[in-house]
Amino acid sequence: MRLDGKIALITGAARGQGAAAARRFVEEGARVMITDVLDDQGKELAAELGPEFNAAYCHLDVSNEDEWAEAVAFTISTFGDITVLVNNAGILHFSALADTTLADYQRVVGINQVGTFLGMRAVVESMTRAGGGSIVNVSSVEGLGGMPYLVAYTASKFAIRGMTKVAAMELGQHGIRVNSVHPGAINTPMVGEALGRPVDITPIGKKVALRRVGQPDDVANVVLFLASDDSAYCTGAEFTVDGGATATHALS
Ligand SMILES: NC(=O)c1ccc[n+]([C@@H]2O[C@H](COP(=O)([O-])OP(=O)(O)OC[C@H]3O[C@@H](n4cnc5c(N)ncnc54)[C@H](O)[C@@H]3O)[C@@H](O)[C@H]2O)c1
Repeated sequence: MRLDGKIALITGAARGQGAAAARRFVEEGARVMITDVLDDQGKELAAELGPEFNAAYCHLDVSNEDEWAEAVAFTISTFGDITVLVNNAGILHFSALADTTLADYQRVVGINQVGTFLGMRAVVESMTRAGGGSIVNVSSVEGLGGMPYLVAYTASKFAIRGMTKVAAMELGQHGIRVNSVHPGAINTPMVGEALGRPVDITPIGKKVALRRVGQPDDVANVVLFLASDDSAYCTGAEFTVDGGATATHALS
């Protein structure tokens, strides 16, 4: 089992890519703290994955510093020191730059960017005590290139890419690896939630080299690789999971 003995905390894990990662992690032998603000869905997933040994749920709004301290303490008391952190929680907000309110900008940055910073900071002590670990920060293809109508989201995802490299440089001496993952269009409720109605994103798949949108497991399998010792010499790196979306440019 590729994650035998690992103790993981995953944010935004009640659904979508975070839930897919939680499932794959438990299948591969990790004990997983599922965290989210969607308490009912998170508790259901934890119950399904095996409450006694493998999975538990804890409420965690990643933008809240105090809740990070509580979630990390609860994970340590339930399973032991944390060796894998997946900063996966994120939200989208569509609006033109000229129409984006400060409140909307700060809400997106507060969850996506500040949440990732708080998460990394919160686990350093525990991971160092454990002798090392792996932090996986979920950015986006919008952390590699700008997307119109996504100014706050793009800013937050570029910031995640940057702080990943700083953390990798500082924490490598403690055996802690830090990498960023950059999904393309993945079939989850995120876009629909941002637009306030269900949206079929599958037509976007026609644009990329692999001619399909991604599924949550496509990303979860890369996150699993980065969480495992298979990626023992990878740190400070960017892993795209985008079907080839960023292999070309607008003039192609
Ligand atoms: N779906 C895509 O096309 C896509 C593409 C690139 C990157 N991403 C990134 O992947 C990650 C996972 O997104 P997803 O596609 O699974 O979407 P999703 O909306 O299904 O999942 C996001 C999860 O984050 C949780 N969340 C929202 N605000 C939170 C908060 N303040 N604290 C804690 N949890 C919170 C939500 O409740 C939800 O469970 C996000 O960081 C997203 O930006 C998604």
